[in-house]
Amino acid sequence: MLVLGIETSCDETAFGLVEDGRPRHGLLHSQTAVHALFGGVAPEIASREHYRIIGPLFDRFLEEAGCTVADLDAVAVARGPGLLGSLLVGVAFAKALCLGADLPLIGVNHLHAHLLAAALDAEPAFPALGLLVSGGHTNLYHIRSPREFAPLGRTLDDAAGEAFDKAAKMLSLPYPGGRCLDALARRARKEGWSASARDVRFPRPYLDNETLDFSFSGLKTAMGRYLETRPELKGGAPAGENWAKHPQEAPQALCETALAFTDAVVETLTAKTARALARLRKEGETIRSLIVAGGVAANSFLREAAGELAAREGVALCMPSPQLCTDNGLMIACAGWCQAQAGRFHPLEMAAVPRGCPVPDDALSSGQVLA
Ligand code: KG4
Ligand code: ZN
Repeated sequence: MLVLGIETSCDETAFGLVEDGRPRHGLLHSQTAVHALFGGVAPEIASREHYRIIGPLFDRFLEEAGCTVADLDAVAVARGPGLLGSLLVGVAFAKALCLGADLPLIGVNHLHAHLLAAALDAEPAFPALGLLVSGGHTNLYHIRSPREFAPLGRTLDDAAGEAFDKAAKMLSLPYPGGRCLDALARRARKEGWSASARDVRFPRPYLDNETLDFSFSGLKTAMGRYLETRPELKGGAPAGENWAKHPQEAPQALCETALAFTDAVVETLTAKTARALARLRKEGETIRSLIVAGGVAANSFLREAAGELAAREGVALCMPSPQLCTDNGLMIACAGWCQAQAGRFHPLEMAAVPRGCPVPDDALSSGQVLA
C-alpha cells in the first residue's frame, strides 16, 4: 500500500511516500529564510508561501519518486494542530487529490505523527511513553498502540523549542535558534569548556511539583537577567549570523552559555520523563519503549540524555533520525499508513484544526482495511 503524506502545518511544505510502512521518498521546501527576517514565523506569509510552492513541489516530488497519482492508495494530510491558514493549503490540496483521483482521505494529528515517525527507522514496541518536543508543543503521552495516545502532561506556557528559539534570539542568533544553540553547546563540550566554571547555571523550571506538566517561560526570563550581567554576549545580528554558520569562530563565553541553557532544558525534560515512567509503572502499566520526537529531539544533548535514561530504566529508545524529527512529509505518510491499516478514513468534509484546539478522533471506520 502506497500512502502519500502532506505537511503544511507551519513553515515547511513537505511530501512523503510510505510504502507498506517503509519510507520510500520525501521532499521538503523550508520557508525558514523568509521568516528569519521577522525572527519567527509570520502566519499570513507562511500560508501564501505554501500556496505558491505546493503545486510545483508536488510535480517535482512525483517525478523524483518515480510514480504518478494513479499509483497512490491513500492521501494523508496534517489536519492540525497548526497555523490555520497554512493547514488549509495542505488540507485543500489533499481533498482535491482525493476527489480528482478517487482516493481515500486520512486526516493526521501532526503531534501524533511526530512520535510515529520513530517507526520509520524501527518499529517501536508498545505500550510506549512518548515525549514530544517541538517548536509549539512539549507533551508527554502514554501510547498504548499507534492509535491510542493518552496525554499525561504538557507545557503550560512556552514549548521547549520556543525556549531555545527565544534564548537564541536574545543572543542575536538567527531563527530558528535551536540547532544553532546545539552546535555552540557541542563546541563547548568538545573543547572541555564548562559553564559551571563561570557560574552560569539556569534554573530547572517547574520540577518542584507533582505534575507531569512543563513550564519553560521562566528560562527566557533567566536568560534575560543573565544577559544584563553579560551584555557583550549579545553580539548583534551580523555576528550572530556568522556564529550560526561557523560555530568554531564563536566566543567561548557564548558557547558556555549555550551549553548551560541546553543542560537546563534537557535535564528538565528528562526529569519529568523519568517521573512519568515511574508513575505509569506504579499504576501497574508496562512500558516497553520510550519515544522522543519533534524538532527538539534533533538536539544532540537530548539524544544522549534520552539514551542514558532509556538504558537506566530498561526500555527501548526510539527516536526518529534528526532529519525526521523536524516537520516532514514522511511522518504524515507513516501516521496515515497506521490509520489506513485500521481502515480509518475521513470524509471530504474533514476540518483543519488550529493550534490550541484538540484534534477530534472523528475518522470513520470504513470496515475495509487497505492491503
Ligand atoms: O517539530 P518542528 O520542526 O516544528 C514544530 O512542529 O514546531 O520543531 C521546530 C523546533 C524549533 O523550535 C527549533 O529551534 C527546534 O525544533 N530544533 C532544535 C534543534 N533542531 C530543531 N532545538 C534544539 N536543538 C536542535 N538541534
Ligand atoms: Zn511539528
